[in-house]
Amino acid sequence: MARLLIVSNRLPISVRVDRGALCLTRSSGGLAAAMRGPHERMCAVWIGWPGSVAGLTPEQRQDADAALAGIRAVPVHLGATEQHRFYDGFSNGVLWPLFHYLLDKVNLDAELDWEAYQRVNERFADAVAEQYAPGDMIWVHDYQLMLLPALLRRRLPGAQIGFFLHVPFPSAEVFRILPWREQIVRGLLGADLLGFHTAGYRKNFAASAAHVLDLDPDEAAIEHDGRRVALGVHPISVDAAEVARIAAHPAVREEAARIRAEARGRKIVLGIDRLDYTKGIPRRLLAIERFLEREPELRDNVRFIQLAVPTREMAGAYADFRRIVHEMVGRINGQHGTTQATPIHYIHRSLPLDQVVALYVAADVMLVTPLRDGMNLVAKEYVAARVDDDGALILSEFAGAASELAEAIAVNPYDIGSVAAAVKRALTMPAAEQRTRMAALRRRVDTSDVHAWAQSFLDDLDRAAAPASEAAGAVSARREMPESVVERVRQAPQRVWILDYDGTLVPFAPMPDLAAP
Ligand code: G6P
Repeated sequence: MARLLIVSNRLPISVRVDRGALCLTRSSGGLAAAMRGPHERMCAVWIGWPGSVAGLTPEQRQDADAALAGIRAVPVHLGATEQHRFYDGFSNGVLWPLFHYLLDKVNLDAELDWEAYQRVNERFADAVAEQYAPGDMIWVHDYQLMLLPALLRRRLPGAQIGFFLHVPFPSAEVFRILPWREQIVRGLLGADLLGFHTAGYRKNFAASAAHVLDLDPDEAAIEHDGRRVALGVHPISVDAAEVARIAAHPAVREEAARIRAEARGRKIVLGIDRLDYTKGIPRRLLAIERFLEREPELRDNVRFIQLAVPTREMAGAYADFRRIVHEMVGRINGQHGTTQATPIHYIHRSLPLDQVVALYVAADVMLVTPLRDGMNLVAKEYVAARVDDDGALILSEFAGAASELAEAIAVNPYDIGSVAAAVKRALTMPAAEQRTRMAALRRRVDTSDVHAWAQSFLDDLDRAAAPASEAAGAVSARREMPESVVERVRQAPQRVWILDYDGTLVPFAPMPDLAAP
């Protein structure tokens, strides 16, 4: 039976050893959260990195493999140095900051990291080819695996290959900075369908491909190497029904009531993010500080809660960033705290999903202010959890979600004053307005959920891959033509020859005049 093969850097379950014991934990981040539901519903196979298994005893390794096999997860094991160069070095040291427009963080002297990136993509290609059976659909995910579509196309020419990018695709002027821009574009163009969250990201990719490969794409497709690569817009979402189900669970409501009781009548303003420099946490903290200074009447009636989920802790940029955030929280609390109250409640660890949902249920206002974000599923989860249609969402205009969630309070996260004003506006918004906005947001998140997203991507992939094989048929039909063509040419009373010149009779030259016969 044909299957769906999901391929991403990280598996939904991560394996590690904690004080000698084997631990299997849910992986954090938007990709794992989003694909978990479709993986289960479609009985798909998920191929990816399970975390480092170096410290595992042979028995623990067996247990880990059995646990992964039980959830149809196929591990791609990577050596420590290779993984560090591929993941911390190239994926998160070059591509991540570049694609999020944080150019000062991009390491452009990353030749060894680039080599590891290529090798690891090859490793993934081998692993996928090993699992593949004719008829399977392959769905590759995200910026860590951008060479994989072309590597797979070489190994499995007839396969249906889709690729979805979970991060923004930057403007062509930014992308062209990348020394390896051509290889990346060629790698992606091995797919039948490339999916992006927004029309803007798709446009940026089309412009980059046009620039880098001197192609002439329209926005919906690129002709390359005799193949047609479709470009789609597929805004990812959350499992809204599942989040609402958790939010309505009595234990979760009880937990939410406890969080509210602890706030002792204060309104709760919540932030939840991986502790990543793209998420805008320092500027958000400054906006909170501005609010505390500017709003003496409101400040004592508010409790800010920031959940910062640890992430990419081995990378230097993240350690520095963590220190900056911790110092800022300490400084602001020191300056504005009293014996009765601490303005910012800061939690630096990963919480189970039901506790996260309890926070969503308890929060009057959700602050989502990334400097740049592919989509941001926290915003959509908050909306899905507001089963009573109340609460207010403040959303960065630089998150992909902003192009869909128009009823949120939109802010420029770089503008501290306007974020502080948005917090005030959200806290004082009349209940009727809150309800109108939240009901509209919920309708959208409910109807376009993650299952609809996955289905629409796979339907488009099916359509995109079909004409590709017909086109391949047409090429081979033309190859078989010469006999009959020769015969007809021979019998024609008059013959007109129309020939292309450079690129056909002679190779391309840098300038047409140099293409001498
Ligand atoms: C973002 C990326 C994902 C990534 C996730 C968590 O959502 O788009 O590809 O998996 O962050 O980051 P990590 O580096 O821990 O996998």
